[in-house]
Amino acid sequence: AFDVVCERSGLTVSVAPEQTVLEAVGNAGIDVLSSCEEGVCGTCETTVLSGEPDHRDSLLTEEEKAAGETMMICVSRCRGARLVLDL
Ligand code: FES
Repeated sequence: AFDVVCERSGLTVSVAPEQTVLEAVGNAGIDVLSSCEEGVCGTCETTVLSGEPDHRDSLLTEEEKAAGETMMICVSRCRGARLVLDL
């Protein structure tokens, strides 16, 4: 599990291994638009303020993945213990 800090909402949400970030923040009342939920459409793209995303989408380029400035929260996860997102 890892924590997602939702900076604008002032909420910290724990993401369990069987859950997506999209589901976890949704359960906390933060609704992010989504569509494919498979990392291909880009609808759920979210700005990363800090932390290192574990990118699992098929949309960002290698350069964008390395930059780590945004992530698709329907599939991508966290490499460390904590991500801070612009949510
Ligand atoms: Fe399509 Fe996340 S909902 S990439």
